Amino acid sequence: PKNATIFSLIQPTGKFHLGNYLGAVRVWKDITDLKDDGTTLLFGTADLHAITVPKPNAKEFRNYRIEAIASILSIGIDPEKAIVFHQSRVSQHTELHWLLSSLASMGSLNRMTQWKSKSNINDQSDDAALGAIKLGLFSYPVLQAADILLYKSTHVPVGDDQSQHLELTRQLSNTFNKFYKTKYFPMPTTILAPTKKILSLLNPEKKMSKSDTNQNSVIYITDEPEIIAKKIKRAVTDSISDSFYFDPVKRPGISNLINTLSGVQRVSIEDVEKDIAHIKDHKDFKQHVTDVLVEELAPSREQFHRYMKNPDYLHKVSEDGASKAREIAAKNITEIKRIMGF
Ligand code: ADP
Ligand code: NA
Repeated sequence: PKNATIFSLIQPTGKFHLGNYLGAVRVWKDITDLKDDGTTLLFGTADLHAITVPKPNAKEFRNYRIEAIASILSIGIDPEKAIVFHQSRVSQHTELHWLLSSLASMGSLNRMTQWKSKSNINDQSDDAALGAIKLGLFSYPVLQAADILLYKSTHVPVGDDQSQHLELTRQLSNTFNKFYKTKYFPMPTTILAPTKKILSLLNPEKKMSKSDTNQNSVIYITDEPEIIAKKIKRAVTDSISDSFYFDPVKRPGISNLINTLSGVQRVSIEDVEKDIAHIKDHKDFKQHVTDVLVEELAPSREQFHRYMKNPDYLHKVSEDGASKAREIAAKNITEIKRIMGF
């Protein structure tokens, strides 16, 4: 689209996994490759969000932040075309968070599912458990709305687990515009990746996540071929043999792998089914999945290790990005505060 501002961040809480890749960052790369002159692209780390749960120690965190920039570049995102930066290096994110928090109701935040799942709250009448939840985790979606609206973003490419937060962002945009009788903020459109959510290899009821403590349930984009083979070999499937087809209810493990193939190979589920129709046993099926993943991820893995040898370059990219982002942010926050009467 013309004059679009396309924006998305990822938490630097661990190495990027297949879900992050197919749900978000590969889409960022595709968008970057297609960029035209009227479009502004901002991609980076949600390092302020990353201190909600689980909180990394400072040394670990510093490393994760660097690895995240290396990962973004290793996927092939060109920092000449997209602004690549750390959220924390642009202070207007937290400033707008505060301004928007005056419009965000407790009720709308209470309806968000993420703070409940991240704090394992099942029973909302458990006062002690509720009382232990941190304000930062609860107001996470307000900071996310501030991130997006700070740049007047028109499009946000994210995985479908983020749809609810994008809906809240549109609500806040609308509330602000109505209250201040302005058309300042756009209604940002969610760009959903064509691939459905990628699930945990060991528990295909849950999404694949950086916060998973069992590393065998997660394929990292930097995993060596032998590690990928080992993890796929251990992936939970089923004992139905002779044919492999997509049926997420009866065959969640197999379906997750078929969905992965469809994502990586950029073809429909039906075309994957045709492609694997000749495969008769689980060993061959898993070997096929392994081959496809190894081939797809090898170039990024090699690039990642190359970038990690050059921390000065990574620092320069993210600082140059932050200074470009700050230019837009400073202009917009001045306008926003003026609209509000500051
Ligand atoms: P994580 O939950 O693994 O910590 P983030 O919260 O940092 O990941 O999300 C970064 C991006 O990756 C978001 O756009 C999110 O929607 C997407 N994403 C995360 N996990 C998955 C998954 N399992 N499948 C598809 N997309 C995902
Ligand atoms: Na997430």
